[in-house]
Amino acid sequence: MAVDVTVKIRLDKYLADMGYGTRSEVKKEITRGNVQINGVPVRRPETKLDTEKDEVTYQGNSAVYEEYEYYMLNKPAGVVSATFDRKDRTVLDLIGERQRKDLFPVGRLDKDTEGLLLITNDGELAHRLLSPKKHVDKVYYVKVQGRLTAEDEERLAEGIDIGEARPALPAGLAILKSGEISEAEITIQEGKFHQVKRMFHALGKEVLYLKRLRMGTLVLDEGLKPGQYRRLTEKEREGLC
Ligand code: URA
Repeated sequence: MAVDVTVKIRLDKYLADMGYGTRSEVKKEITRGNVQINGVPVRRPETKLDTEKDEVTYQGNSAVYEEYEYYMLNKPAGVVSATFDRKDRTVLDLIGERQRKDLFPVGRLDKDTEGLLLITNDGELAHRLLSPKKHVDKVYYVKVQGRLTAEDEERLAEGIDIGEARPALPAGLAILKSGEISEAEITIQEGKFHQVKRMFHALGKEVLYLKRLRMGTLVLDEGLKPGQYRRLTEKEREGLC
């Protein structure tokens, strides 16, 4: 016997999920007759529809349902990794194209950190990427005050004490330039508060600049200037699963 795997959802939830307004705002539009399913006006907000098959029109325009959205943002400095902030601009404010109202950034970058930030509403994927148990690499480019040495590399590889109950998980350091100001790429698999800055602080070197380059298989598109974003390609999205 064929199994019915269609997803049915209330019309008002469908529209609210897609960012057309609050639940009460979209209910009003529905009762006014401004919403159609398959060309037929529907005035009952609780009407269920099949997101795969039914076509919804909202105020005359097609309203396509997307369960998940995935954006790659090159986060600029000065913007906070939050969904809402009283004072500062958030990374979500930069995603002009967004539809879903339940988007969030996957992990936090500090206000002064730049680079790769995935923005989605896919909670399971976020969990897989962030859980230290899953050992997903996060690669950062870093500029620090002071000379980086092979000893620093060893200390990070062993797992450095950053003042928590346990040392940080082993991290990989690839020194790109060593001098009064040094440059390197560091690979970590966890994401504690100020993790990279605290690791270098433990080595006696302060971070001057930090940019995330990669998270798992997802690599920052260098074509994106700070503040710019784009949707993930199908290949990028599948690669993360
Ligand atoms: N580690 C930090 O110290 N800051 C970040 O923003 C990300 C990782």
